[in-house]
Amino acid sequence: MAKTTENKLWGERFSEATDPRVDQFTESLSEDYRLFRHDIAGSIAHANALSRGGILTAIETKKIICGLKEVEKELEVGSVEFLTSDEDIHTYIERRLTEKIGPLGGKLHTGRSRNDQVALDLKLYLREKITEILHQTVLLQKGLVVQAEKQIDIYLPGYTHLQRAQPVLLSHHLLAYYEMLERDRTRFADCQKRLNQMPLGAGALAGNSFQLSRKVVADELRFKALTANSIDTVSDRDFIAEFLSASSILMVHLSRWAEEWILWASSEFGFITLSDRFCTGSSIMPQKKNPDVLELVRGKSGRVFGALVNILVITKGLPFSYNRDLQEDKRPLFDTVETVLESLTLMTLLLSEVQFNRMKMEAAASDSLLLATDLADYLAQKGLPFREAHGIVGKIVQEAIANQKPLHKWPITEFQKRSRIFQNDLLNVLTPRAAIEKRGGVGGTATASVKAAIQRIKKQW
Ligand code: ARG
Repeated sequence: MAKTTENKLWGERFSEATDPRVDQFTESLSEDYRLFRHDIAGSIAHANALSRGGILTAIETKKIICGLKEVEKELEVGSVEFLTSDEDIHTYIERRLTEKIGPLGGKLHTGRSRNDQVALDLKLYLREKITEILHQTVLLQKGLVVQAEKQIDIYLPGYTHLQRAQPVLLSHHLLAYYEMLERDRTRFADCQKRLNQMPLGAGALAGNSFQLSRKVVADELRFKALTANSIDTVSDRDFIAEFLSASSILMVHLSRWAEEWILWASSEFGFITLSDRFCTGSSIMPQKKNPDVLELVRGKSGRVFGALVNILVITKGLPFSYNRDLQEDKRPLFDTVETVLESLTLMTLLLSEVQFNRMKMEAAASDSLLLATDLADYLAQKGLPFREAHGIVGKIVQEAIANQKPLHKWPITEFQKRSRIFQNDLLNVLTPRAAIEKRGGVGGTATASVKAAIQRIKKQW
């Protein structure tokens, strides 16, 4: 068999060609082509470092940088041909550069290894993608606040155990989604902060022997600090695990929200009507309007959790330092970035066009059993130990259910038979509005509290 390893960065070591199935098995170009802009930015910074270190002349540096920019343009336009010998995006870019500027292209890899190069590319990529995710999360949060302000006077049952519990303002419910997302946003921001350490200079694992100033490279690539240990630098994929973990928690949140709205959109609840633009139909049942976007947000969360487990399992058994296993970080990472961005975008769009059905929500919340706690609170406020109050109201509830007589239809004398504490002022307590407005203070569902929450949020923007 003719030797076909001469195109390879490491070909001269070998006297036999790689089996084509091995080429296919080991390549990562089909995934990591997405890193080309970051790879080229890193290579330009490295070329500048080589120039400062006297390894490249000014003219050579200029030639290399122009060549890299041309390769980037080709990739931008998509007019490129990948060869089986192009193992990964780093190999491809170096090959193309050398085809353009000749053997000088081979000087670029001085003092650098693909091990520190790939760590750099991944960090540059993730830093950029986290910025996009942060932006998209804020858009979704703003959408929630817009709706919370618009729907400030609608109320609905709040649930525990998916059983009607107490009436709450719809705005309060919407701001609960906001708060979940706020924790997600800060988790992503933290992750972005922690990955802000520049890996280049770690070489294959032991550092580089050309005394290149890492600090200047870090400044050029806008990194706050340098990684501190070359072995750790090329072994570390914590920043990916951390990102996938933040993404998984975000997707748990979006999935819970989606699940809730799938229920709300059902005829059984009827709390919301989704815009036609965000639903699909059935090929057989003409009446169907299905909440597929919400279902897919819920479903795609599984992919993201899978990605987290994937990276944890890939790394858990690896001795220091770089191992080829690490190349398998690409697919879970890229897939998650795309899934998270799409899910956030779709939820933002869907939210802006949803219709809240006040009648249905308020009718469900007018079930007077939702005021049982308020009845007990009433007795407790008048001095009865809450446990006793709970017992008395428990009996009242039992009777109301047995006789199918809602509490708000009970004359005051009926209440007084169960406790002499009940007075005429009870009637002011027994409405959903009263129950809501009583729950003031920070974090409560009273209108004033919700308005204050909205103001507090808006002040931060
Ligand atoms: N494609 C590899 C990766 O994504 C980077 C190259 C390192 N390869 C190597 N043989 N040291 O992890």
